[in-house]
Amino acid sequence: MDMTSLFDVSGKVAVVSGGSSGIGAMMARGLLENGAKVYITARKAERLMAMAEELSQYGECIAFPADMSRVEGIEAFAAQIAERESKIDILINNAGANWNAPLESFPEKGWDKVMDINIKSIFFAIQKFLPLLKAAGTSEAPARIVNIASINGIRNSGMTTYAYSASKSGVIHLTEHLGAELAPSGVNVNAIAPGLFPSNMTKELVESDAMTKWALGQIPHGRLGKPEDIAGTAIYLCSPASSWMTGQTIVLDGGMISTA
Ligand SMILES: NC(=O)c1ccc[n+]([C@@H]2O[C@H](COP(=O)([O-])OP(=O)(O)OC[C@H]3O[C@@H](n4cnc5c(N)ncnc54)[C@H](OP(=O)(O)O)[C@@H]3O)[C@@H](O)[C@H]2O)c1
Repeated sequence: MDMTSLFDVSGKVAVVSGGSSGIGAMMARGLLENGAKVYITARKAERLMAMAEELSQYGECIAFPADMSRVEGIEAFAAQIAERESKIDILINNAGANWNAPLESFPEKGWDKVMDINIKSIFFAIQKFLPLLKAAGTSEAPARIVNIASINGIRNSGMTTYAYSASKSGVIHLTEHLGAELAPSGVNVNAIAPGLFPSNMTKELVESDAMTKWALGQIPHGRLGKPEDIAGTAIYLCSPASSWMTGQTIVLDGGMISTA
């Protein structure tokens, strides 16, 4: 093994859901700049196409709009990729949503919306992309699935985002379950549990001085996550360096949940 290529993802074909914004766009850029070809998806076509154009300065980035919270949407997206690729090396299940409401009035609509995109979509995206992933992976060089969880799936955030926390705990457990199940098929399944990164989802919090001051006080590193933090962890999980690792969740939070 050549140790200088441990983190090499060049020539890989990757799919990143929710690649039009935030963390998904950061990981897509990291993969592109390191020589991967990246397909991105999201529902809002205009923003998605604009992001694909922006990311194209770093490499080959192709966008297809899809609603990943519905099985029909996932199937249609997977069919579009299968028309162009005989295999895919990397599937990053990143698309996600949140809903904040008091316990007494938390609506069924909010619960279903969050569960459908944060957890149901991960299971069915894995199901529908599995033939393409199996076609790419071997036990020596496995294909990769990276699920985006959250530190709020590990510890109680204290916020009234009940469905979000439950869905993200589910992501961590599903990752462990499928990691063991798919290893013999040459597919690794791992997750990242991010702490606070600037994105559309965290816009209100990050743009409020008081909230940012509060959040930074909780993070031992004293700063929010940067694109290179999430891209670096994603590249590790997609590269030869992590070939023997599966079923695991990496916490990436500047030390936030390690504090008492
Ligand atoms: N930012 C953080 O601090 C943080 C921390 C922990 C975990 N996370 C997780 O990181 C992931 C990305 O979040 P973010 O913070 O980057 O948020 P974001 O900027 O709001 O991005 C969310 C992405 O998901 C897409 N999406 C949402 N619903 C979709 C659907 N039904 N079908 C297809 N795509 C859909 C959005 O595009 P459309 O709206 O156009 O569909 C967008 O591209 C989420 O899973 C989130 O829970 C974020």
